Amino acid sequence: MSDYEREAVSADADSDERALEGALRPRSLDDFVGQERVRQQLSLVLRGAQRRGRAPDHVLLSGGPGLGKTTLAMIIAAELGAPLRISSGPAIERSGDLAAVLSTLHEGEVLFLDEIHRMARPAEEMLYVAMEDFRVDVMVGKGPGATAIPLDIAPFTLVGATTRSGLLPAPLRDRFGFTAHMDFYEAVDLERILHRSAGLLGVEVDGDAAAEIAGRSRGTPRIANRLLRRVRDYAEVHGDGHLTRETACAALTLFEVDHHGLDRLDRGVLEALCGKFRGGPVGLSTLAVAVGEEPETVEVVAEPFLVRSGFIARTPRGRVATPDAWGHLGITPPADAAFGAAAAADSAAAPRAAEVPGAEGAA
Ligand SMILES: Nc1ncnc2c1ncn2[C@@H]1O[C@H](COP(=O)(O)OP(=O)(O)OP(=O)(O)O)[C@@H](O)[C@H]1O
Ligand SMILES: [Mg+2]
Repeated sequence: MSDYEREAVSADADSDERALEGALRPRSLDDFVGQERVRQQLSLVLRGAQRRGRAPDHVLLSGGPGLGKTTLAMIIAAELGAPLRISSGPAIERSGDLAAVLSTLHEGEVLFLDEIHRMARPAEEMLYVAMEDFRVDVMVGKGPGATAIPLDIAPFTLVGATTRSGLLPAPLRDRFGFTAHMDFYEAVDLERILHRSAGLLGVEVDGDAAAEIAGRSRGTPRIANRLLRRVRDYAEVHGDGHLTRETACAALTLFEVDHHGLDRLDRGVLEALCGKFRGGPVGLSTLAVAVGEEPETVEVVAEPFLVRSGFIARTPRGRVATPDAWGHLGITPPADAAFGAAAAADSAAAPRAAEVPGAEGAA
C-alpha cells in the first residue's frame, strides 16, 4: 500500500478514533439515520424472527468503511435483546479459533464477525456447517487416523461485515439469509447525523454549518463526525464554541478539505490533470510524477472518490478530466480539451496504454 497518510477525509479510523466513535453510535434502529431501505428490511427480518420466537437469519452487512456496519451489528443485538459476541476475520487464523468461539455461544446470541472476508479458508468451511446446521465438526487426531466428531452448538445469529463482499466465496455468501448493502449517505442524512452528534457532544451547531460540513463529508458518517470534531475545536479556540457556517468554512479550509470534500492530494491530482495535461488523457504514472506521488497512491487513495464524484474518467488511453472537474477548479477548459465520454468513445479504436488498468476498480 502507499504511505500517503490521509487525514481529515479518510474513511478509515485508527484505534483512538474508534474509541471516540463509541459515544456517537446510535443504539437502536430508530436512532439509525438514513439507509432507509436497509433499515426497513432489517426491521422486518428482526421482528419476524421475534414473533416466531426463533433466531433470525444470518445477516451480511456489506459496504465501505465508516458507513455504519459495526453500528448496525450492535443495533441488531440490542433490538433482539441478545448478547453480542465480537470477533473478526483476521483473528480467526485456524478453524480451531472459530470452533472455540462457536462452541461457547449461548442460544440466541449474536456473533459479529467483522472483516469476514479475511477469515482463514478452513475456518470458512467450518462456518458454512455451523450456519446451516448449528454443528461443528471437531477434528481429533492427525493423518489417516483423524476423525471428525460432530458437536452441536446453540442456534445463533451470525452478523458478518465486509468492505469487500466480492471476496467472499459464494457458498459463504449464500448462507446469509439477508444481505444489507450499505450505500453512501445523502447530504440531508449526514446533516441529521451531525445534529445528533452535536447534541451528544454538547455543541450548538447552526443548520447551515451542519449543511456545510455534510457537503464535505464524502457521503460517510465517520468523516462527518470527524469534521464536526475539528470544527468544534476550531470554534472553541477561535470563537465562543458555537458552530456557524463561517467557523465551519474557516476550520475546514485550515484542514484543507474543500467544498466537495476533496483534500490536498485529490486537488493536486485534478490540478495536475487540468493544468499540466490540458485535461488528459494522461497515463497514471505520468500523472503521478506530476503530483509527486507514487502511482499507487494516486490510484488507490485519490482516484476512487474522484471517479465516484464524476471529476475523473478512466479511459483506455488514460485519465481524463470531466467538465465538472474544470468547473470545480473554476478554470475554463481549453477548446480542444478531451472530456470523459468523448475520450472514451474515440479510444475504442486507439491502442491501449500499457499502464492503464483495464478494470474499473473504483467505487
Ligand atoms: N446511520 C448512522 N447514523 C448515525 N451515525 C452513524 C451511522 N452510521 C455510522 N455512524 C457513525 O459513524 C461512525 C462509523 O460507523 P461504523 O463504525 O459503524 O462504521 P463501519 O462501517 O463499521 O466502518 P469500518 O468498515 O471501518 O469498520 C460511528 O461513530 C457511528 O456512530
Ligand atoms: Mg466496523
